[in-house]
Amino acid sequence: MPLDRSWFAPILLLLLGFISVLFGALHLNLLGQGDVGAEHQMASTHYFNMPVPIIIHIISGSFFNIFVPLQFAKQIRSRWPKLHRYLGRCLLICALGFGFSGLWMNHFYPQYGGVLKYLGIAVHCLVLVVSLLLAYRAIRRGDVESHKAWMMRMTAAALSPATQRLFIIPTYLLIGEDLVTDVVIAGVIWFGLAVNLGFVEWILRKKKASDFKRTSHKQVAESSY
Ligand code: HEM
Repeated sequence: MPLDRSWFAPILLLLLGFISVLFGALHLNLLGQGDVGAEHQMASTHYFNMPVPIIIHIISGSFFNIFVPLQFAKQIRSRWPKLHRYLGRCLLICALGFGFSGLWMNHFYPQYGGVLKYLGIAVHCLVLVVSLLLAYRAIRRGDVESHKAWMMRMTAAALSPATQRLFIIPTYLLIGEDLVTDVVIAGVIWFGLAVNLGFVEWILRKKKASDFKRTSHKQVAESSY
């Protein structure tokens, strides 16, 4: 039996989020090894000196990446609306957890990547928090379509680090250390956000166009009776 098309989005989100979850697990494993882990090529000394923010960041970020795809599954939303609401509240706490710890790390951990990288992270957090607030406000007034659209934008910002890794890892493996310059770091951060938000806006426009087509067809059919 072919897979229902409505599962495509949740599966895509899960696969994309899995990249960050994997990186998170690697970093937590290194932190768990203490000094031994610090010698690893992937380890950052500042994570060992100030582990709390990165631990909060990885745990809340991983929970978010694993469970947010369920919120986009039509079947789950309509069959278990209570689960959708309960999970929504947990994901809200997670988003605030990784958003604010990201903002904190951006400011207090040793600086790299220059001012554009610094601003890039700040803009990610801004899009995340503003979209969450607007999504919440929309659902309080019963505007489901607007709620969905803002939740999609929020998820685009949250999953931007995964998109960045999707591009940077193969490029790093091909080019090596020479790739790591301030311009590239900042560029990749902005690129991840632009790609994800661009993709969401494209989906929303497509949906709007097909909804418009459907209503005009319906109106034509009704007026011809
Ligand atoms: C708005 C979204 C996000 C922002 C702005 C953000 C920002 C940051 C910042 C500033 C750092 C510290 C980099 C450093 O100075 O070493 C970091 C590290 C990290 N973040 Fe996020 N993050 C976001 C979402 C996530 C999510 C959802 C996950 C999922 C697990 C995640 C996983 C990680 C991991 C594993 C690290 C360790 C370093 C690495 O592998 O690149 N982040 N993030």
